[in-house]
Amino acid sequence: MEGTVRVSAALDLARRPRRLRRSAAMRDLVRETRLSPANLIYPLFVCEGEGVRREVPSMPGVCQLSVDEAVAEASAAAAEGIPGVLLFGLPAAKDLVGTAADDDAAPVQAAVRAIKRAMPDLLVTTDVCLCEYTSHGHCGILEGETIVNDATVERLASVAVSHARAGADIVAPSDMMDGRVGAIRDALDDPEHDGQYADVAIMSYAAKYCSAFYGPFRDAADSSPAFGDRRTHQMDPANATEALREVELDIEEGADLVMVKPAIHYLDVIARVKATFNVPLAAYHVSGEYAMLKAAARNGWIDEPRAMMETLTAIRRAGADIVITYYAREAARSLAC
Ligand code: PBG
Repeated sequence: MEGTVRVSAALDLARRPRRLRRSAAMRDLVRETRLSPANLIYPLFVCEGEGVRREVPSMPGVCQLSVDEAVAEASAAAAEGIPGVLLFGLPAAKDLVGTAADDDAAPVQAAVRAIKRAMPDLLVTTDVCLCEYTSHGHCGILEGETIVNDATVERLASVAVSHARAGADIVAPSDMMDGRVGAIRDALDDPEHDGQYADVAIMSYAAKYCSAFYGPFRDAADSSPAFGDRRTHQMDPANATEALREVELDIEEGADLVMVKPAIHYLDVIARVKATFNVPLAAYHVSGEYAMLKAAARNGWIDEPRAMMETLTAIRRAGADIVITYYAREAARSLAC
């Protein structure tokens, strides 16, 4: 008919999801996923020296920090409502076995002590791995070009104890050796420590994939392998069922929290881990994921604050309780507005 619009019978007034999207208040009322600074952990790279704040070129806004600057950065994050930091170390010297990793005087241990002294309530997690400390950049002890599992695990347990001695609340093994969670738990609970470290929790990088998205981190931590890659211990990106097996083993061995890493390309894994296990789940939004957003934003190709919030919300929606992200402070500031 002329002048009138034909209305299809399918346009039933009872089926109008848009009603719930009409206003900001309505959208807020029905929002399923909430992002809060309380969900975020902020990674920091700690180096030697004083007053050092060296920006990592491939990670705009992220700096290598001396201990004093790491305390300042952690304190700013805490003031913005972020409950915890994750520390990585850049040692003064590297060798074949990563001697500096369990040196009580190394930057990470010093930063743990300084941060806990200044802010006893801020949760301090430490990354436990050897790749930042070995001259060859591999995550363990080599025999020829092979990483020897059990000898590496022994070193990692000693690193975890050193971090615990400094006062870490959580130790986070990121090496992907077999059996390291159990060995770390045993080492922390060894009677020689008189139960002093019984309350130190373990967050295992349980499903850590062999990912191209760690590139900028390896600039930040100077931890690129001198030869070869990490395929013999990190997971194949094609596998998801295997991630459940890895998580199961780590929980059996005593992991208190588990992690999936990276995040955005592994949302399916996050969702499956969350649906299968009942321990707190963290997801690591890694350096390459951060760098991609920063690069696109610098070119004016995306709206960075919106892309950031969409990304972090998606990781939470998939099932992560905790998001480890270099965006933690920016996100916390954005959430406060
Ligand atoms: C150490 C470690 C890595 C990351 C966290 N711990 C690098 C790697 O496995 O090569 C990556 C974090 C990031 O990319 O932001 N093994």
